[in-house]
Amino acid sequence: MQKNKIYIETYGCQMNLADSEIIMGILQNSGYSITQQMEDANVVFLNTCSIRDHAEQRIYGRLGNLKAIKSSKPDMIIGVLGCMAERLRKELIEEKKIVDIVVGPDEYRRIPEFIDVAFNGGKGIGVRLSRTETYDDIIPYREDGLQAWIAIMRGCDKFCTFCVVPFTRGRERSRPLQSIVLEIEQLSRRGFREVTLLGQNVNSYQDEQNDFANLLAACAVVDRRIRIRFTTSHPQDFSDKLIYTIAEHPNICSHIHLPVQSGSNRILEAMNRTYTVEHYLISIEKARKIIPGVSFSTDIIAGFPTETEEDHQMTLELMKLVRYDGAYMFKYSAREGTKAFKMGDDVPDEVKSRRLQEIISLQQQISFEINQTLLNNEEIILVEGFSRKSNDFLSGRTDSNKVVIIPFDEKIKEGSYAKVEINRVTHATLFGEFIELGDPVTLNLALTA
Ligand code: 5AD
Ligand code: SF4
Repeated sequence: MQKNKIYIETYGCQMNLADSEIIMGILQNSGYSITQQMEDANVVFLNTCSIRDHAEQRIYGRLGNLKAIKSSKPDMIIGVLGCMAERLRKELIEEKKIVDIVVGPDEYRRIPEFIDVAFNGGKGIGVRLSRTETYDDIIPYREDGLQAWIAIMRGCDKFCTFCVVPFTRGRERSRPLQSIVLEIEQLSRRGFREVTLLGQNVNSYQDEQNDFANLLAACAVVDRRIRIRFTTSHPQDFSDKLIYTIAEHPNICSHIHLPVQSGSNRILEAMNRTYTVEHYLISIEKARKIIPGVSFSTDIIAGFPTETEEDHQMTLELMKLVRYDGAYMFKYSAREGTKAFKMGDDVPDEVKSRRLQEIISLQQQISFEINQTLLNNEEIILVEGFSRKSNDFLSGRTDSNKVVIIPFDEKIKEGSYAKVEINRVTHATLFGEFIELGDPVTLNLALTA
C-alpha cells in the first residue's frame, strides 16, 4: 500500500517555519513522504499562529476552503498544528467538523500516531505542554539552500500581558549547545551560508554554564563563511557580554531585533515588559559604541489598553531617538486568557488605525533617510539568487539585513559574498553595482581597515 503523503502549510513566525521542518522530519522518519502540492496529499496540516486575532481569522478562512476540497475528497485528513491548536483545543474539532487532528507545539512526536487514529475514523488530540521537549534528536527536513532556521530554545517565561505565547508554547527550555553546533557543522557540509538562531527570547538561552553569548561564539567559529543571525532578543536580558561577542566575530550579523513595543514607561509597565525607555536606550547606545555598523529593528504595538495620545507621542519620540532601520508594527489585538484581556480593549479601532499609520509613516521616512546615508558606500552582501522581479538582477543581503539588488553578473554564484557599491535607495531596498567577490572575513577586514 502506498504510504501517506503529507502537505503542510505554515503561518506566523519563523519559529513555526522551524517547527514545520521538525514535523516533516518526524513524519519522514515514520515513512511518510512530503509533497509541496496539496492536490497530491491525503494528509493536510496547517501549522498555525494565535498571536493576533487576524492570524486566527486567516486560518478559519483557509479551513473554509479546505472544507470544499474535502467534500470532493472525503478520505483527506485535516490537521491543525501549533499555537491555535494549543489555544482552542477540542473546541476546534467540535466547531470545525472537518478537523481530524489537533496538535500543540510540544506533542509533534505523536503526529504519526494521530494520523493512524484519524484514518481509523477517530480524532487525534495532543495538546499537553512539556517542560523538557526540545526535539533535540530530530533532524529537521530541509531542502538544500543557503539559509536555515535553528530553534535553540522553546517557550517563553516573560508573560508580557498582551501575549499568548507563554500559554501556547509553555515554559522556556534550551537545547544543548553541542547539538546546535553539530547541526551547523552538518549545514556547513551541505553548503548553507546563513543560520538564524531562533527563540521567543534568545537571550534567556541557558545550557549548563553556557549562556546565549557562549552559544553565539561557538556557532560563529564552526564555519566563518556562515553568517549567524538570531532573533528575538528581549531588552531586559540584553547583556554587555552579548554585545562584545557580536562585535568580536565578523560573521555574527550586526543586526539586532530588539522589540520595544511602546515608548511610554506607563504602558511598558502595564505590558509587564520589565524595562524602562531609559534602560532600553542605554542598551542601544552601548551596542552602537561597541559594534561597528550595528543596525536595529523593533516591534511596536499601537493602541494597548489605556494608551493615551500622550503615550502614543512618546512612542513616536522614541522612534525618532533610536532611528530603527526597520520595524514590525501592529494594532493591539486582545487575546483571551492574557492579563491585558481583562484590562478591556478601550482604544477605539479607528484611533488604533490612525496611530498605527502614523507609526508606519514615521518608520518609512526614517528607513529612507538611513538608507540614503548608505549612498556611494561599499557593502558586502551574501548573494541569494535572482531578484524577485527579474532574472536580469541578483538579490542579496547586507550584514545589517538590508536587501541589495545588483545587475546580473555570471561571475557571481548563489551563495557568494560580493562587495558592492550602493547607488540608489528606497525605504525598503538598496540598489548597487558589483565590485568584487570574496569571503566575508577578508572582505570585512578590508572594509574596516
Ligand atoms: N496584539 C498585537 N501585537 C502583538 N504582539 C504580540 N502579541 C500581540 C497582541 N496581542 C506583537 C509584539 C511581539 C510580536 C511578535 O507580535 O510586538 O513582539
Ligand atoms: Fe510574548 Fe513577551 Fe514572550 Fe515575546 S517576550 S513571546 S512578546 S510573552
